[in-house]
Amino acid sequence: MEKTFLMVKPDGVQRQLVGEIISRFERKGFQLVGGKLMNVSSELAGEHYAEHKERPFFNDLVEFITSGPVFAMVWQGENVISTSRKMMGVTNPKEATPGTIRGDFGLTVRKNIIHGSDSPESAVREIGLFFSEQELQDYSKLINRWIY
Ligand code: PPS
Repeated sequence: MEKTFLMVKPDGVQRQLVGEIISRFERKGFQLVGGKLMNVSSELAGEHYAEHKERPFFNDLVEFITSGPVFAMVWQGENVISTSRKMMGVTNPKEATPGTIRGDFGLTVRKNIIHGSDSPESAVREIGLFFSEQELQDYSKLINRWIY
């Protein structure tokens, strides 16, 4: 099953949007396989955003993502990588369509509420950076199933 890494950024956590965001992905039909409220160290931020190292906003990006708790998540489902990106909306909230997370709640390109993996390769990499195997659920191994 396809998996992706999603992260409510410090602005989203401080604005108490974690529940709203989880709810959107649950209602869509995706399954939460891992989640934690955590602080991102400068080292982890640097690795996570390594591809943007040469960009002028890199320091700003690291400063922001380390500025307060984030809610890191792993979700699974069919086409979860591309569909969750559509549900997030484009990077700049000013241009994001209403109905998307950034279109509804985002303020600036810096404070844009949520991060999501943009490809299968980055999903694997980002999940590995933030989660250990033990922190991820394997629902196929559940013995007691309450929904049929
Ligand atoms: S993309 O689609 O990932 O390539 O988007 P991109 O526009 O390149 O932006 C990558 C991430 O950098 C953040 N960003 C910024 N942060 C601070 N200041 C400025 N000016 C800025 N511009 C872009 C943007 O929110 C993206 O963060 P993530 O967490 O990847 O969504």
